[in-house]
Amino acid sequence: MKIGVINGPNLNLLGVREPEIYGTTTLADIESSLEKTFKEDHFTFYQSNVEGEIINALQSFSKTVDFLVINAAAYTHTSIGIADAIASISTPVIEVHLSNIFAREDYRHVSLLGKHCAGSISGFGAKSYELAVRAGKDLMSK
Ligand code: DQA
Repeated sequence: MKIGVINGPNLNLLGVREPEIYGTTTLADIESSLEKTFKEDHFTFYQSNVEGEIINALQSFSKTVDFLVINAAAYTHTSIGIADAIASISTPVIEVHLSNIFAREDYRHVSLLGKHCAGSISGFGAKSYELAVRAGKDLMSK
């Protein structure tokens, strides 16, 4: 299966960024772990700190992958543009978060993206990505 994994702002700093919240696993570690766990699948990874670039990635990846996993990070809570991009593509999108956004500040409790996603996984640290990929593969096999 072809799977796109898009990460938003500050996730390039995983491993050193607020490790008490996000853990010490780097984004490169997460990506290589996905490749090792799902050997039969083909991943395309993308990270950007720029909202428009994430929108461009959603649009272009949607033409080539079976499903997408996105951690839009802070844009989850603010970006109508990313929400609209997800709504505009027919490729299923799974929303993922390392931290449990519902157990944090009030402004993180709302996801503008969730409504347009197949589902959301939040709170399992780096493992959230693996769970999201499993969910996506399960969804596609139906
Ligand atoms: C995050 C949660 C967001 O609220 C935050 O802005 C992030 C990371 C997570 O993976 O837990 O940057 O998406």
